[in-house]
Amino acid sequence: MAKPKIAIVIGSTRPGRFADKPAAWIKELGDRRSDLSFEIVDLRDYPMPLFDEEVSPAWAPSKNEVAGKWQAKVAEFDGFIFTAAEYNHAPTGVLKNALDYAAAGWVNKPAAFVGYGGVGGARAVEQLRLIAVELQLAPIKTAVHIMWPVMVEAREGKSLAEFGFLNDGAKAMLDQLSWWANALKTARDAEEKEAKAA
Ligand SMILES: Cc1cc2nc3c(=O)[nH]c(=O)nc-3n(C[C@H](O)[C@H](O)[C@H](O)COP(=O)(O)O)c2cc1C
Repeated sequence: MAKPKIAIVIGSTRPGRFADKPAAWIKELGDRRSDLSFEIVDLRDYPMPLFDEEVSPAWAPSKNEVAGKWQAKVAEFDGFIFTAAEYNHAPTGVLKNALDYAAAGWVNKPAAFVGYGGVGGARAVEQLRLIAVELQLAPIKTAVHIMWPVMVEAREGKSLAEFGFLNDGAKAMLDQLSWWANALKTARDAEEKEAKAA
């Protein structure tokens, strides 16, 4: 079986965002592994309007061209890591919008989160877990939470890779993600094979 492909989705788009740092750090850690492959997917490259389709993309193809490209991109992957900024104790609007703008591409695939903020993005991550379940994503237990003092040091030039406890947390998260990505890919492949044989 080909190794599962994981998207690292950059979940904020504002100028000067912090999000690039956790995305690049996780990509670097991920690229050292042999069990998964990783690609950074930047929501800046998918500038979708605030959701304004007549129905959910679960029920009909989207009319918006960028949304179609986004859905095709999501479908390429076997699992997702979302960078999770916290805006007013919630996920960013742009990430929620991007989650709403895809449907089939999320189903039966694992989701992991790298949160950051005053409490490590924990409130945003918890909300994202609930949203993920509705989308039939499988949120895994361990997330990475980057607290404010670490963000300050990282903004001043220290690499996130220099924080040993973050690397340990990320390893635990990636190990769980690997288990779930392989298990769910096997199950999806078997289902597809059965459907073709029927
Ligand atoms: C509109 C807005 C609301 C915010 N609300 C919170 C918050 O509720 N909790 C928190 O920890 N940080 C909050 N912050 C600070 C963010 O954690 C910080 O700006 C972070 O860098 C945002 O991620 P980004 O730079 O990738 O966009 C907020 C920032 C913005 C712009």
